[in-house]
Amino acid sequence: MSTVTEQRGQDASLAAPAGESALDIAGLQTWYGESHILHGVDLNVARGEVVTLLGRNGAGRTTTLRAIMGLTGRRTGSIRIGGRETINMPTYRIAHCGVGYCPEERGIFASLSCEENLLLPPAIGAKSGSSKSDAQGMSLDEIYTMFPNLAERRHSQGTRLSGGEQQMLAVARILRTGANLLLLDEISEGLAPVIVQTLARMIVTLKSRGYTIVMVEQNFRFAAPLADRFYVMEHGRIVERFGVAELEGKMPVLHDLLGV
Ligand SMILES: Nc1ncnc2c1ncn2[C@@H]1O[C@H](COP(=O)(O)OP(=O)(O)OP(=O)(O)O)[C@@H](O)[C@H]1O
Ligand SMILES: [Mg+2]
Repeated sequence: MSTVTEQRGQDASLAAPAGESALDIAGLQTWYGESHILHGVDLNVARGEVVTLLGRNGAGRTTTLRAIMGLTGRRTGSIRIGGRETINMPTYRIAHCGVGYCPEERGIFASLSCEENLLLPPAIGAKSGSSKSDAQGMSLDEIYTMFPNLAERRHSQGTRLSGGEQQMLAVARILRTGANLLLLDEISEGLAPVIVQTLARMIVTLKSRGYTIVMVEQNFRFAAPLADRFYVMEHGRIVERFGVAELEGKMPVLHDLLGV
């Protein structure tokens, strides 16, 4: 997996090698009602890659993640997940292709304990054609080993958890489903630097375990050391794409586009 990642990091224009592609989006357009939001997005993610989607407010990053999950209005174009076309699938079937979406608002159930939140998700499995019994979601023990803070807080109510703990819980919860393609929206937002560092270590661990990650981030300093490749969006289109090796040379462009 890392070799594919390394190769792709060198040349973002390469198509993902056959059989190794986690996500292939081509010509994606989407609407919220009458509002035309995405105007032909092309994006490819190889298995095991971490890809960051950058852009200014309102560029269409959240909409891209929601469109992948089938949570927007009308969608046209192509979204292949693990090789399967999902553009006409309802959300629950897309989830069964092994996609986990962590929305910006986290969606932690306030009245439930940390552990009850973790016990909620159904196991959906990740392999194409897999039955529910094949699902390989993380067990509670695995979750607690990976997130010791959550083990300590297992009996605390959702409302009692700190912002950082809620964010870890939101990510942990999608790992319970068996998803292997993780869509993470602004997970570092509003959190103290020490918590952001913990989240960065979490991303590194997930990558080392073979998860494929698409992160939307405003926090460039958080995203830069984690991602294999970067996409930049503007007005519902991808306007830049490059690998980590090109990052330094792209800094002036990023400064213009994002003010980083
Ligand atoms: N439910 C909705 N109905 C109509 N328009 C929407 C809806 N959600 C988002 N939009 C519009 O779609 C565009 C893209 O929004 P999106 O949430 O994808 O941006 P973003 O890149 O995630 O930025 P940020 O998170 O900083 O707002 C914006 O113009 C926004 O106003
Ligand atoms: Mg957003």
